[in-house]
Amino acid sequence: LPIRATSYSDELVQTAKTIASPGRGILAIDESNATCGKRLASIGLDNTEVNRQAYRQLLLTTPGLGEYISGAILFEETLYQSTTDGKKFVDCLCEQKIVPGIKVDKGLVPLPGSNNESLCQGLDGLASRSAEYYKQGARFAKWRTVVSIPCGPSALAVKEAAWGLARYAAISQDNGLVPIVEPEILLDGDHPIERTLEVAEKVWSEVFFYLAQNNVLFEGILLKPSMVTPGAEHKEKASPETIAKHTLTVLRRRVPPAVPGIMFLSGGQSEVEATLNLNAMNQSPNPWHVSFSYARALQNSVLRTWQGRPENVEAAQKSLLVRAKANSLAQLGRYSA
Ligand code: 13P
Repeated sequence: LPIRATSYSDELVQTAKTIASPGRGILAIDESNATCGKRLASIGLDNTEVNRQAYRQLLLTTPGLGEYISGAILFEETLYQSTTDGKKFVDCLCEQKIVPGIKVDKGLVPLPGSNNESLCQGLDGLASRSAEYYKQGARFAKWRTVVSIPCGPSALAVKEAAWGLARYAAISQDNGLVPIVEPEILLDGDHPIERTLEVAEKVWSEVFFYLAQNNVLFEGILLKPSMVTPGAEHKEKASPETIAKHTLTVLRRRVPPAVPGIMFLSGGQSEVEATLNLNAMNQSPNPWHVSFSYARALQNSVLRTWQGRPENVEAAQKSLLVRAKANSLAQLGRYSA
C-alpha cells in the first residue's frame, strides 16, 4: 500500500532493506573535492584527481569489505572513476554486494534572514542529475543539511532544513534513488545533552512533517541523524548509555517504525566513541535497524596508516576492516572495546 506509487516503489523498499541489513552499515566517502583535500593535506598529499582516485581505490577495493558494509556514499567524481586497472568503482562495489550511493546536495550557503545559519542548496536540476546517477549505477542518495545549536537554531533555519530534505527525498524517490535524509545537528557548543534533545525533537518532527506533506514513501528512505550528545565544549562528557538513552527516546517519539534504518553519522566523535555509542544503542531491540554511516570514524586510522604510500595500502585496508568489523559488531550490540 504505497503512499505514492511510482514505478520505483518496490525497488526503493528493497534497496533500503538491503542497506539496512543485519551487521552492516554505510561507508561514507562522499567528501567534496575541497573536504577530501583537507583529509589528504593531513598526510601531506596534494589535492589532485590522481591522489583522490588512489585514496578512493584503496577504500573501495578492500577485500572482504562487503561483509560489514552494505552501502558506500560517493562524491560525483568517484561515481565516474575506475581503478587503475580500468574497473569501474561501481562494479567493484556491486561485486562485494555493496550498494553504490551518491551525494547529491551542492553544499551549504548562508541563509539570508537567519542568525548566521546556513541552507543546503542543490534542488535545481536535481531530478535530471538523479536520473543520470541512477544510469551510472547509483541506487541511493544523500543530502546533508545542518542545524547549529549555538546559532539558535532559528525557526526559519529548521523549517528550511526540513523542507529542503523533504523536496530532495521526493525527487530522489521519483528517480529510483533511496534518499538518505541527513539533518545534522552540529556538535559545536557548550550546551548540555538536554538542549540537544530539545533541538533534535523539534528538527526530527519538522523533517517528518514535511516528508509526509511531500508524500515520501517512508519505507523507502533512510534517516542519517546525529546522536544526541552534549555540545563538544560542554564541561562533562556523557557515557554511551546516556547518549543511547537520550537518542533513542527522541527517535522513538519522532521517527515512525516504517522507516527501515537509522544510519548515524559520526560528527567528529573518535572512532572508538562512535563504535561504543552505536553498540549502546543496540543493547535492546529497536523498531528500526540502527547502524552507522560514518566518514571520519571509519577513515581516520586508514589515512594515518596509508600516508599516501603504495607499500602501506594493504595495512591501511586492514585498518579499515578493523573499524568496519567493530561497527558491524556494534550494530548487532556485541562490541566490546
Ligand atoms: P562523519 O561521520 O565524519 O560525521 O561524516 C558523515 C557524513 O555526513 C558524510 O556522509
